[in-house]
Amino acid sequence: MAHAPQNHTDATQFTGRTALVTGASSGIGAEFAARLAERRANLVLVARSLEALESVAAQLRSRYQVQVTTMRLDLSEATAAQELFERLEASAIVVDVLVNNAGVSGGGPVSAADPDALAAMIATNIGAVVGITSRLLPGMMTRGRGVIVNIASTGAYQPAPYRAVYSATKAFVLSFTQALWSETAQSGVRVLAVSPGPTETPMNSGAVRGKRTPRQVVQTALKALDGNASSVVDGAANAFFARVFSKRFPERLVLGAGERLMRPKP
Ligand SMILES: NC(=O)c1ccc[n+]([C@@H]2O[C@H](COP(=O)([O-])OP(=O)(O)OC[C@H]3O[C@@H](n4cnc5c(N)ncnc54)[C@H](OP(=O)(O)O)[C@@H]3O)[C@@H](O)[C@H]2O)c1
Repeated sequence: MAHAPQNHTDATQFTGRTALVTGASSGIGAEFAARLAERRANLVLVARSLEALESVAAQLRSRYQVQVTTMRLDLSEATAAQELFERLEASAIVVDVLVNNAGVSGGGPVSAADPDALAAMIATNIGAVVGITSRLLPGMMTRGRGVIVNIASTGAYQPAPYRAVYSATKAFVLSFTQALWSETAQSGVRVLAVSPGPTETPMNSGAVRGKRTPRQVVQTALKALDGNASSVVDGAANAFFARVFSKRFPERLVLGAGERLMRPKP
């Protein structure tokens, strides 16, 4: 999907801009932070593990001579987005690039799940994305410039039995981001949903064939930012399953295949 030309020509000019990356303590978020620092963006890194964040920050400061601020926050808490906003204001930090990457996953049947863990997943994967975006977007709109990247998943493209809540949270992220892309079309704010498939990170460290790397995911995202699409799927095979198999094949076949693939081993 693409719409009329707009003022996005500088979406990947990061020098001297400030980028906030949630979930920057590991995996795709840490890689995003590194690639943005390499392009001379200053950074605000957010996660719960301050020690891991500080370690990422120290490496990036010394390697790329950029300013890096770390903020310890639990994004599953209802007050987290407002607290983040207030801390940014107090430090006079203007965020030009927002990467909503923090997320948690979880498998197994809903009937056996811990309801509190499901609520925390929804709060982190959905609540924080909406909370942070809706607080930082007005400033970007006023400045007529900004970038928002929301990390969804190929799980956003079809319901996933045994990862029902996770895939539903990512369907929300994809739908929310695509609608926002349309709302901001003429504003100079570039909005993009990025959907990785299985990617080698602490979240997904098991043996899965054809796994992608965080570097590939971030490269896909940065390349897509140069264009004008509302969403991108990382990797050709993932794109086929997300955009062709899941959409064009009968629902029962897609759900049945998903159930067999994801069914917990006895
Ligand atoms: N790996 C995959 O196969 C895959 C596939 C599709 C989509 N994704 C998505 O990609 C994104 C990054 O995941 P990843 O694979 O890089 O996993 P990861 O290495 O586990 O990273 C997740 C990040 O989110 C942070 N986080 C989790 N809960 C948080 C909370 N309550 N408050 C603040 N930060 C929190 C973690 O930091 P702390 O633990 O320090 O808080 C960590 O930095 C997620 O949105 C995930 O859903 C991953």
